[in-house]
Amino acid sequence: MKILRKKTTTVEKNNLPKHIAIIMDGNGRWAKKRGNIRLLGHKKGVDTVNEIVTAAAEIGIEYLTLYAFSTENWNRPKDEVFGLMDLLVTALENNLKKIQQNNVVLRTIGDINSLPPRTREKLQDAVEHTKQNTGLNLILALSYSARWEIEEMVKRIAQECVEGKISVENIDKTIINSHLCTKNIPDPELLIRTSGEYRISNFLLWQIAYTELYFTETLWPDFTKEEFITAIADYQSRERRFGKTGEQVQ
Ligand code: FPP
Repeated sequence: MKILRKKTTTVEKNNLPKHIAIIMDGNGRWAKKRGNIRLLGHKKGVDTVNEIVTAAAEIGIEYLTLYAFSTENWNRPKDEVFGLMDLLVTALENNLKKIQQNNVVLRTIGDINSLPPRTREKLQDAVEHTKQNTGLNLILALSYSARWEIEEMVKRIAQECVEGKISVENIDKTIINSHLCTKNIPDPELLIRTSGEYRISNFLLWQIAYTELYFTETLWPDFTKEEFITAIADYQSRERRFGKTGEQVQ
């Protein structure tokens, strides 16, 4: 399926999505096309992360969630897994100053305790050092999958029911939201997936109930600020009905 879109260079400032989520896909194919190892694609992918984080902060996006490592990614070859974990450490070391200059608040979602100690410590350190910032919330999904998150949420709510803190009849979407990793984070209005794959791959399944989806053929290392702006403009051209009729929302 090839989607043709008009390229746009501007966005309307009064209709910005508060929260954009991105499935950064295609690093491996980008490297393979050039006869390189997959890790080189991930390295180039970090440059794209830098470009898009800077763009999001400039545009005035409040939350940007990046799917950086899924629960299922642990099944990849060990050298790729540990290469990615090291890359994360290097990316944090090289960019912490810029993250601070851009007033970015770094946060994580996922099973952070399962990460190698060095990666986990670097992340916790960066989270601690940026928590006073007031700009873009950059949320890295690491060792994350939506089904894992939902399992954890169900276990915690069940435990609180057993302890008498919650009654079963009071369980509603507010209680569910407050037991997810994304507690206090608004649902994304826009989800972007690169690399021509038309799947959600276990990402934010609860939170994307009404999210607008933007799929592009571009591989993540080739994704640019210009295409990010095109995706936002595409979102702004859509009518969001939330189950109502077109007339009701006009
Ligand atoms: C998917 O491409 C990408 C990943 C599993 C890792 C994404 C990680 C980065 C962009 C770098 C680290 C990120 C941060 C936040 C510093 P793939 O490997 O599945 O590509 P393929 O489908 O072409 O094989």
